[in-house]
Amino acid sequence: MIIVGGSASSKLAARVAKLLGCPLVNSEVTRFPDGESYVRVNYNFKDEHAVVVQSTCHPQNDNYIELFLLLDAIKDLGAKRVTAVVPYFGYARQDKRFKPGEAISVRTMCKLIERAGADDVITIDIHEDETMANFAIPAYNLTAMSLIGRYVARLDLRDPVVLGGDQGALTRAKRAAAEFMADYDYLEKTRQTSTKVTMRPKRLDVSGRDVVIVDDIISTGGTVIEAIKVLKKQGARGIYVACTHPVLVGNALQKIIAAGARKVMATDTIEHKISVISVAPVIAESIR
Ligand code: R5P
Repeated sequence: MIIVGGSASSKLAARVAKLLGCPLVNSEVTRFPDGESYVRVNYNFKDEHAVVVQSTCHPQNDNYIELFLLLDAIKDLGAKRVTAVVPYFGYARQDKRFKPGEAISVRTMCKLIERAGADDVITIDIHEDETMANFAIPAYNLTAMSLIGRYVARLDLRDPVVLGGDQGALTRAKRAAAEFMADYDYLEKTRQTSTKVTMRPKRLDVSGRDVVIVDDIISTGGTVIEAIKVLKKQGARGIYVACTHPVLVGNALQKIIAAGARKVMATDTIEHKISVISVAPVIAESIR
Protein backbone atom coordinates (compact mmCIF):
# COMPACT_ATOMS: atom_id res chain seq x y z
CA MET A 1 0.00 0.00 0.00
CA ILE A 2 1.28 3.49 -0.89
CA ILE A 3 0.05 6.60 0.90
CA VAL A 4 -0.17 9.69 -1.31
CA GLY A 5 -0.33 13.03 0.46
CA GLY A 6 -2.23 15.76 -1.29
CA SER A 7 -1.05 19.30 -0.55
CA ALA A 8 -3.93 19.97 1.87
CA SER A 9 -3.17 16.87 3.95
CA SER A 10 0.55 16.19 3.65
CA LYS A 11 1.13 16.10 7.43
CA LEU A 12 -1.83 13.82 8.08
CA ALA A 13 -0.80 11.53 5.21
CA ALA A 14 2.68 11.26 6.77
CA ARG A 15 1.12 10.31 10.12
CA VAL A 16 -1.01 7.61 8.44
CA ALA A 17 2.00 6.25 6.53
CA LYS A 18 4.05 6.14 9.74
CA LEU A 19 1.36 4.25 11.63
CA LEU A 20 1.02 1.73 8.81
CA GLY A 21 4.73 1.52 7.96
CA CYS A 22 3.89 2.27 4.30
CA PRO A 23 5.78 4.33 1.73
CA LEU A 24 4.66 7.95 1.47
CA VAL A 25 4.61 9.96 -1.75
CA ASN A 26 3.69 13.63 -1.82
CA SER A 27 2.00 15.24 -4.78
CA GLU A 28 3.88 18.06 -6.48
CA VAL A 29 1.50 20.89 -7.16
CA THR A 30 2.36 24.05 -9.03
CA ARG A 31 0.57 26.46 -11.36
CA PHE A 32 0.69 26.93 -15.06
CA PRO A 33 1.21 30.58 -15.98
CA ASP A 34 -2.53 31.01 -16.63
CA GLY A 35 -3.43 29.78 -13.12
CA GLU A 36 -4.39 26.19 -13.94
CA SER A 37 -3.18 23.50 -11.52
CA TYR A 38 -0.25 21.26 -12.42
CA VAL A 39 -0.09 18.00 -10.46
CA ARG A 40 2.60 15.32 -10.60
CA VAL A 41 3.08 12.22 -8.51
CA ASN A 42 6.35 10.56 -9.30
CA TYR A 43 6.07 6.90 -8.30
CA ASN A 44 5.58 3.54 -9.94
CA PHE A 45 2.02 2.63 -8.89
CA LYS A 46 1.80 -0.46 -11.08
CA ASP A 47 -0.39 -3.05 -9.33
CA GLU A 48 -0.26 -1.12 -6.04
CA HIS A 49 -3.07 -0.04 -3.74
CA ALA A 50 -2.75 3.76 -3.57
CA VAL A 51 -4.41 5.71 -0.78
CA VAL A 52 -4.78 9.40 -1.63
CA VAL A 53 -5.24 11.63 1.43
CA GLN A 54 -6.55 15.07 0.52
CA SER A 55 -8.93 17.27 2.50
CA THR A 56 -11.05 19.60 0.42
CA CYS A 57 -10.90 22.52 2.80
CA HIS A 58 -10.06 26.11 1.79
CA PRO A 59 -9.13 26.71 -1.01
CA GLN A 60 -11.84 24.17 -1.71
CA ASN A 61 -11.92 24.40 -5.49
CA ASP A 62 -8.14 24.07 -5.85
CA ASN A 63 -8.05 21.16 -3.41
CA TYR A 64 -10.87 19.36 -5.23
CA ILE A 65 -9.14 19.82 -8.59
CA GLU A 66 -5.91 18.46 -7.11
CA LEU A 67 -7.81 15.45 -5.75
CA PHE A 68 -9.45 14.72 -9.12
CA LEU A 69 -6.12 15.04 -10.96
CA LEU A 70 -4.36 12.79 -8.44
CA LEU A 71 -6.99 10.05 -8.58
CA ASP A 72 -7.08 10.03 -12.38
CA ALA A 73 -3.29 10.14 -12.76
CA ILE A 74 -2.65 7.35 -10.23
CA LYS A 75 -5.24 5.11 -11.86
CA ASP A 76 -3.72 5.84 -15.23
CA LEU A 77 -0.25 5.03 -13.84
CA GLY A 78 -1.38 1.46 -13.23
CA ALA A 79 -2.60 1.33 -9.61
CA LYS A 80 -4.84 -1.69 -9.12
CA ARG A 81 -6.90 0.13 -6.51
CA VAL A 82 -7.20 3.78 -5.53
CA THR A 83 -8.75 4.77 -2.21
CA ALA A 84 -9.74 8.41 -1.79
CA VAL A 85 -9.43 9.55 1.83
CA VAL A 86 -11.11 12.95 2.07
CA PRO A 87 -10.82 13.76 5.80
CA TYR A 88 -12.69 17.05 5.46
CA PHE A 89 -15.27 16.84 2.70
CA GLY A 90 -15.85 20.30 1.26
CA TYR A 91 -19.28 21.35 0.00
CA ALA A 92 -20.89 18.79 2.32
CA ARG A 93 -23.32 21.30 3.80
CA GLN A 94 -24.91 22.06 0.41
CA ASP A 95 -26.53 18.63 0.38
CA LYS A 96 -30.07 19.68 -0.53
CA ARG A 97 -31.83 22.06 -2.83
CA PHE A 98 -32.76 24.66 -0.20
CA LYS A 99 -34.05 27.07 -2.89
CA PRO A 100 -35.34 26.18 -6.36
CA GLY A 101 -32.60 25.94 -8.94
CA GLU A 102 -29.71 25.43 -6.54
CA ALA A 103 -26.91 22.99 -7.30
CA ILE A 104 -26.72 20.08 -4.86
CA SER A 105 -22.99 20.64 -4.64
CA VAL A 106 -21.93 17.68 -2.52
CA ARG A 107 -23.67 15.27 -4.90
CA THR A 108 -21.66 16.70 -7.79
CA MET A 109 -18.42 16.29 -5.81
CA CYS A 110 -19.27 12.65 -5.05
CA LYS A 111 -19.87 11.98 -8.77
CA LEU A 112 -16.58 13.62 -9.72
CA ILE A 113 -14.52 11.73 -7.11
CA GLU A 114 -15.94 8.46 -8.37
CA ARG A 115 -15.56 9.36 -12.03
CA ALA A 116 -11.96 10.51 -11.48
CA GLY A 117 -10.96 6.98 -10.50
CA ALA A 118 -11.64 6.28 -6.82
CA ASP A 119 -12.50 2.65 -6.09
CA ASP A 120 -13.58 3.47 -2.56
CA VAL A 121 -13.92 6.57 -0.41
CA ILE A 122 -13.32 7.35 3.24
CA THR A 123 -14.25 10.52 5.05
CA ILE A 124 -14.63 11.59 8.67
CA ASP A 125 -17.64 13.11 10.42
CA ILE A 126 -19.25 14.32 7.23
CA HIS A 127 -22.11 16.73 7.87
CA GLU A 128 -24.81 14.16 6.97
CA ASP A 129 -24.06 10.46 6.85
CA GLU A 130 -26.66 10.07 4.06
CA THR A 131 -24.27 11.88 1.71
CA MET A 132 -22.31 8.66 1.37
CA ALA A 133 -25.30 7.13 -0.45
CA ASN A 134 -24.41 9.33 -3.44
CA PHE A 135 -21.52 6.96 -4.16
CA ALA A 136 -21.99 3.74 -6.12
CA ILE A 137 -18.54 2.60 -4.89
CA PRO A 138 -17.95 1.60 -1.23
CA ALA A 139 -17.95 4.78 0.85
CA TYR A 140 -17.38 5.06 4.58
CA ASN A 141 -17.95 7.86 7.05
CA LEU A 142 -15.66 7.40 10.06
CA THR A 143 -15.87 9.38 13.27
CA ALA A 144 -13.27 11.20 15.34
CA MET A 145 -15.53 11.45 18.38
CA SER A 146 -13.87 8.64 20.34
CA LEU A 147 -10.47 10.25 19.75
CA ILE A 148 -11.89 13.58 20.90
CA GLY A 149 -13.38 11.91 23.98
CA ARG A 150 -10.03 10.32 24.82
CA TYR A 151 -8.27 13.68 24.53
CA VAL A 152 -10.87 15.46 26.66
CA ALA A 153 -10.64 12.70 29.27
CA ARG A 154 -7.07 13.85 29.98
CA LEU A 155 -8.23 17.36 30.90
CA ASP A 156 -8.97 17.79 34.57
CA LEU A 157 -12.71 18.45 34.26
CA ARG A 158 -15.19 18.75 37.10
CA ASP A 159 -18.41 16.73 36.79
CA PRO A 160 -18.27 17.05 33.00
CA VAL A 161 -21.18 17.13 30.55
CA VAL A 162 -20.62 16.60 26.81
CA LEU A 163 -23.10 18.51 24.65
CA GLY A 164 -23.84 18.09 20.96
CA GLY A 165 -24.37 21.34 19.09
CA ASP A 166 -27.84 20.12 18.04
CA GLN A 167 -30.03 17.03 18.23
CA GLY A 168 -28.22 15.50 15.26
CA ALA A 169 -24.99 15.77 17.22
CA LEU A 170 -26.33 13.75 20.14
CA THR A 171 -24.73 10.57 18.80
CA ARG A 172 -21.42 12.40 18.51
CA ALA A 173 -21.71 13.64 22.11
CA LYS A 174 -22.59 10.15 23.30
CA ARG A 175 -19.53 8.69 21.59
CA ALA A 176 -17.14 11.25 23.00
CA ALA A 177 -18.69 11.02 26.49
CA ALA A 178 -18.41 7.21 26.52
CA GLU A 179 -14.61 7.54 26.60
CA PHE A 180 -14.69 9.03 30.09
CA MET A 181 -18.10 7.99 31.40
CA ALA A 182 -19.46 11.55 31.25
CA ASP A 183 -23.07 12.71 30.94
CA TYR A 184 -24.14 13.82 27.49
CA ASP A 185 -26.96 15.82 25.97
CA TYR A 186 -27.64 18.26 23.13
CA LEU A 187 -28.57 21.86 22.57
CA GLU A 188 -31.58 22.67 20.46
CA LYS A 189 -30.88 25.37 17.92
CA THR A 190 -32.73 27.30 15.25
CA ARG A 191 -30.77 28.84 12.39
CA GLN A 192 -32.16 32.35 11.61
CA THR A 193 -29.74 33.27 8.83
CA SER A 194 -26.48 31.80 7.54
CA THR A 195 -24.60 33.44 10.44
CA LYS A 196 -27.25 33.79 13.18
CA VAL A 197 -28.37 30.90 15.35
CA THR A 198 -30.57 30.86 18.44
CA MET A 199 -30.63 28.13 21.08
CA ARG A 200 -33.45 26.72 23.12
CA PRO A 201 -32.68 25.87 26.73
CA LYS A 202 -31.54 22.29 27.13
CA ARG A 203 -32.80 19.89 29.76
CA LEU A 204 -29.55 19.05 31.63
CA ASP A 205 -28.58 21.31 34.49
CA VAL A 206 -25.01 22.43 33.81
CA SER A 207 -24.75 24.74 36.79
CA GLY A 208 -21.31 24.39 38.42
CA ARG A 209 -20.25 21.73 35.91
CA ASP A 210 -17.62 21.74 33.19
CA VAL A 211 -19.17 21.49 29.74
CA VAL A 212 -17.59 20.20 26.54
CA ILE A 213 -19.40 21.28 23.37
CA VAL A 214 -18.71 18.88 20.50
CA ASP A 215 -19.53 19.52 16.86
CA ASP A 216 -18.56 18.16 13.48
CA ILE A 217 -17.45 21.54 12.19
CA ILE A 218 -16.86 25.07 13.39
CA SER A 219 -17.06 27.51 10.53
CA THR A 220 -18.07 31.08 11.45
CA GLY A 221 -18.27 30.08 15.11
CA GLY A 222 -21.84 31.42 15.33
CA THR A 223 -23.31 28.14 16.59
CA VAL A 224 -20.69 27.62 19.30
CA ILE A 225 -20.74 31.24 20.46
CA GLU A 226 -24.51 31.10 20.94
CA ALA A 227 -24.08 27.85 22.86
CA ILE A 228 -21.44 29.41 25.10
CA LYS A 229 -23.77 32.34 25.88
CA VAL A 230 -26.63 29.97 26.82
CA LEU A 231 -24.35 27.80 28.95
CA LYS A 232 -22.84 30.77 30.77
CA LYS A 233 -26.33 32.03 31.63
CA GLN A 234 -27.08 28.60 33.02
CA GLY A 235 -24.06 28.73 35.31
CA ALA A 236 -21.66 26.35 33.57
CA ARG A 237 -18.26 26.34 35.25
CA GLY A 238 -15.75 25.93 32.43
CA ILE A 239 -16.72 25.70 28.77
CA TYR A 240 -14.55 23.66 26.42
CA VAL A 241 -15.12 23.31 22.69
CA ALA A 242 -14.06 20.42 20.45
CA CYS A 243 -14.76 19.75 16.80
CA THR A 244 -13.57 17.46 14.08
CA HIS A 245 -13.12 20.10 11.36
CA PRO A 246 -11.63 23.49 12.34
CA VAL A 247 -12.79 25.50 9.32
CA LEU A 248 -12.69 28.65 11.50
CA VAL A 249 -13.45 31.36 8.99
CA GLY A 250 -11.75 34.74 9.59
CA ASN A 251 -11.37 35.50 13.30
CA ALA A 252 -13.84 32.82 14.43
CA LEU A 253 -11.36 31.33 16.91
CA GLN A 254 -10.69 34.65 18.62
CA LYS A 255 -14.46 35.27 18.84
CA ILE A 256 -15.03 31.87 20.45
CA ILE A 257 -12.32 32.50 23.02
CA ALA A 258 -13.64 36.02 23.66
CA ALA A 259 -17.09 34.50 24.22
CA GLY A 260 -15.65 32.50 27.11
CA ALA A 261 -14.32 29.15 25.87
CA ARG A 262 -11.48 27.94 28.08
CA LYS A 263 -10.02 25.75 25.37
CA VAL A 264 -10.84 25.02 21.72
CA MET A 265 -9.66 21.71 20.29
CA ALA A 266 -9.89 20.07 16.89
CA THR A 267 -8.49 17.29 14.77
CA ASP A 268 -6.04 17.46 11.89
CA THR A 269 -8.60 16.85 9.12
CA ILE A 270 -7.72 20.51 8.56
CA GLU A 271 -4.30 21.74 9.67
CA HIS A 272 -4.76 24.51 12.22
CA LYS A 273 -2.95 25.60 15.37
CA ILE A 274 -5.77 24.02 17.42
CA SER A 275 -5.46 20.65 15.57
CA VAL A 276 -4.20 18.79 18.62
CA ILE A 277 -5.92 15.46 17.92
CA SER A 278 -4.83 13.37 14.95
CA VAL A 279 -7.35 11.29 13.01
CA ALA A 280 -4.48 9.20 11.61
CA PRO A 281 -5.35 6.21 13.86
CA VAL A 282 -8.94 5.95 12.60
CA ILE A 283 -7.83 6.28 8.98
CA ALA A 284 -5.03 3.74 9.43
CA GLU A 285 -7.37 1.31 11.14
CA SER A 286 -9.92 1.53 8.32
CA ILE A 287 -7.44 0.84 5.50
CA ARG A 288 -5.13 -1.56 7.28
C1 R5P B 1 -24.54 22.39 11.83
O1 R5P B 1 -25.44 21.59 11.71
C2 R5P B 1 -23.14 21.97 12.10
O2 R5P B 1 -23.09 20.85 12.91
C3 R5P B 1 -22.35 23.10 12.73
O3 R5P B 1 -22.88 23.38 14.01
C4 R5P B 1 -22.38 24.36 11.92
O4 R5P B 1 -22.21 24.06 10.55
C5 R5P B 1 -21.29 25.28 12.38
O5 R5P B 1 -21.29 26.45 11.60
P1 R5P B 1 -20.96 27.83 12.23
O6 R5P B 1 -19.67 27.71 12.96
O7 R5P B 1 -20.87 28.76 11.04
O8 R5P B 1 -22.09 28.21 13.13
